[in-house]
Amino acid sequence: MRRKCGLYKAAFKKYFPEGSLPFFASKALSYVGIYRIIADEGLGTDLVSPGELYTAQKAGFPIEKTCFHGNNKTDADIEYGVKAGIGHFVVDSEEELYALDRIAGGLGRVQNVLLRLTPGIDPHTFAAVNTGRIDSKFGSSIDTGAAERIVSEALTLKNVKLCGYHCHIGSQIFESEPFCRAAKIMLGFSRLIKEKYGYEAGIINLGGGFGVRYYDGQDEPDIDAFIREIADVINSFCAENGMKAPVIFMEPGRSIVASAGVTVYTVGSVKTIPGFRTYVSVDGGMPDNPRYALYSSKYTALIANKANLPCTEEYTVGGRCCESGDLIGEGMRMQSAKRGDILAVLVTGAYNYSMASHYNRIPKPPIVTVRDGADTLAVRRESFDDLTKNEL
Ligand code: LLP
Repeated sequence: MRRKCGLYKAAFKKYFPEGSLPFFASKALSYVGIYRIIADEGLGTDLVSPGELYTAQKAGFPIEKTCFHGNNKTDADIEYGVKAGIGHFVVDSEEELYALDRIAGGLGRVQNVLLRLTPGIDPHTFAAVNTGRIDSKFGSSIDTGAAERIVSEALTLKNVKLCGYHCHIGSQIFESEPFCRAAKIMLGFSRLIKEKYGYEAGIINLGGGFGVRYYDGQDEPDIDAFIREIADVINSFCAENGMKAPVIFMEPGRSIVASAGVTVYTVGSVKTIPGFRTYVSVDGGMPDNPRYALYSSKYTALIANKANLPCTEEYTVGGRCCESGDLIGEGMRMQSAKRGDILAVLVTGAYNYSMASHYNRIPKPPIVTVRDGADTLAVRRESFDDLTKNEL
């Protein structure tokens, strides 16, 4: 994870103007300790809820290095964010813009904002995480004219300072081309606004979405090459159109943290249904990793205590919930398993713990971080008391 942070930081420094910064999208994994690592590595953080903001504050994260997202911030969220000193609000709607102006004004503040725009791009990813198209609950569409409308409004308000634009085109993207296309659309929009309103965006935030390798056959993007290709497109567009190259923000989540995570389960049973398949049941499942149930996402697994043996078996790995769809994967090749073995699922650092639930009243597992061979307990295992602590 630290290595990935370093790659982003170095590439940003090399290819983008001063002030450009990668922000860790902490929706991918949020707990107190991770904000300390991100602060230590010098990245900013993307926050998407007051809960993430609270966790970052608790970690002592420099809140001026954050972007505050969310398509439905309540007045209370907005007040909390302004008081906390959020670096940039990423404003999703006209309602939010007016509420923010009113609340910041009441607090005697002028809040820096980016406006979330939808560039109408389909990066060929699966529908559930495809957020940059016209038909989206997020942001204001460039194609429909909503984007221009919200910019012209923002420019008239006294308590918000328009600093630029944001877009996020999707997740698990393996080519730089959709990012380059998005960058061109955003810059084209910026040029139009400059011509019509005399305002030129100083910052463009291109969101997150760099893909990661979950199984053999997927090729992980080369971060340095991707950033260089995006920067080339931005620089030539700006040169051709007499624009100043804007400061660039990006918000990688998955690609920073996914491959650092391994989930370890204990095998409980191995059940062969003749003519069908063999089920291996583990002591976790959809409560700690709902991604197969939600998106049919494929993972790689192994029997960790037999890692040096050949992968001779093909298993369907099931969790412990009372639900047939509670699977970690099907057709997973690994070593032969028996009760008591440790089954490790790889590349589970992103969108596993952060999407965990208490379904079937299963307490959330702990998080242990490992660095240079030393392990540290970062999040305690939940107790049964934790499950009932708010219940009267
Ligand atoms: N910025 C914004 C505005 C986003 O909506 C997201 C992800 C990111 C950055 C980070 O994207 P990443 O670099 O992690 O791809 N639960 C799904 C993923 C949902 C992603 C939502 N937005 C999954 O488990 O695959």
